[in-house]
Amino acid sequence: MAKNKLPEGLQAKLMGTAKKVMKNAHAPYSNFRVGAAVLLANGKIFAGCNVENASYGMTNCAERTAIFSAVAQLGPKIEIRAVAVVNDQRVPCSPCGACRQVIYEFGRDAVVFFQGARGPKQAHITELLPQGFRLQ
Ligand code: THU
Repeated sequence: MAKNKLPEGLQAKLMGTAKKVMKNAHAPYSNFRVGAAVLLANGKIFAGCNVENASYGMTNCAERTAIFSAVAQLGPKIEIRAVAVVNDQRVPCSPCGACRQVIYEFGRDAVVFFQGARGPKQAHITELLPQGFRLQ
């Protein structure tokens, strides 16, 4: 199996987890609910939703909520294998630039599943974020 090919069942589980957590979003300003699920190399899955704020810039995207939750639970030595992102408007939605950088921090070889312009898409993190920033 190719390195970035997930077993069908695991991909479906990741999408299902993202859809479920999407319902917890706090999105009264945009009305755009997003759910994300990250699969770690150790097989664990963490979920997150977007959490908005009246001071708009304080908003946290679903992807970062999920990743920060994984770090809070397991510490910084996590490796992200895959990320799934879903939204409740069924419109194209790939991770924003900030989230791409955060995914890259913990998943240099991560695959990202999201809604593209012509249906479901998957892309390697380095396709979404060429030449991501690293300190070491
Ligand atoms: N948002 C996410 O949570 N993830 C994305 O990939 C794109 C955007 C959120 C941020 C904000 O709460 C809302 O969607 C509208 O931008």
